Amino acid sequence: MLSFRKMLHKNVKMKILSLITLCAITSAHEITQLKVPLYADPRRAAELSCHFQMDDQKLHSVKWYRDLHEIFRYNPSQKTQIRLFNVTGIMVQGGACETDSCVVRVMPPPEATRAAYTCEVSTEGPKFLIARQTKHMTVVAMPDEDPVIIGAPKLVKPGEQMLLNCTTDYSLPPSDINWYIDNELQKPEPWQHIELSPPLPGGLRASWRVLRVRVPPAANGALRLRCEAILMVEPPVLRDATATITIYSRTQLSKFVSNKGGNLYANANALFALFWTFNVISKFTSL
Ligand SMILES: *[C@@H]1O[C@H](CO)[C@@H](O)[C@H](O)[C@H]1NC(C)=O
Ligand SMILES: *[C@@H]1O[C@H](CO)[C@@H](O)[C@H](O)[C@H]1NC(C)=O
Repeated sequence: MLSFRKMLHKNVKMKILSLITLCAITSAHEITQLKVPLYADPRRAAELSCHFQMDDQKLHSVKWYRDLHEIFRYNPSQKTQIRLFNVTGIMVQGGACETDSCVVRVMPPPEATRAAYTCEVSTEGPKFLIARQTKHMTVVAMPDEDPVIIGAPKLVKPGEQMLLNCTTDYSLPPSDINWYIDNELQKPEPWQHIELSPPLPGGLRASWRVLRVRVPPAANGALRLRCEAILMVEPPVLRDATATITIYSRTQLSKFVSNKGGNLYANANALFALFWTFNVISKFTSL
């Protein structure tokens, strides 16, 4: 039993040792540069390149993977040197290799996805040593224009209601929308959800959100509206539109009303104080 355990120990030790030697040898050939765009526009092909250095090793193959799926293979010793593989969600348009690099062109899927692209360079047998590097690419289409506010009148009366519509430019993913009145975020009512347009080629969509505003009866001055379109990428991309709506009011009259209201309140207070005093005095006198 003991000897078996010892053997197991020895085996593990040998495996670790061979792993260390393998790593040491692997560094003899390496990937010197992996170029994968951070963002890819779903309307055009993205170009990915892998540069490598073989030192004394002989190149066996270069492979590209999208996540775990092989999309490209280069075998310099075979008759068909380059092979492309379509996998779900991606179209491999082409590829080419030189002695120290391989380039592959992929058409990103029309969805806001993030995928890992791996380049794998292996040496000839019998060792078939492998060098590997991975980078991520996110499919994104930025909006070209600011959002637009529709339905904002120049002038409103206190108590009046408005229905405003903020529409964003086409993007992938579609933009999120926030409404502000005088810099205050307007929480959407349940029916005011963000709606999306049908997709354009590449999966780009416009979005809109309606805001219902009731001008407070005592409001005066102006309402400053702002609609913010946010594209949730890292870092987020922000665009906005503003509109200023003047509130129609007879300024003098409203001042008069508010002053009078103040006086009335003060008078009421005085009256109450008088009444209270009277009450207390009458209590005393009744004693
Ligand atoms: C991949 O799919 C596209 C479109 O369906 C096609 O044109 C192309 O030939 C395919 N490539 C391969 C390697 O199958
Ligand atoms: C908002 O505006 C967009 C673009 O003009 C339009 O397609 C959409 O129907 C409007 N939505 C509402 C609820 O008015």
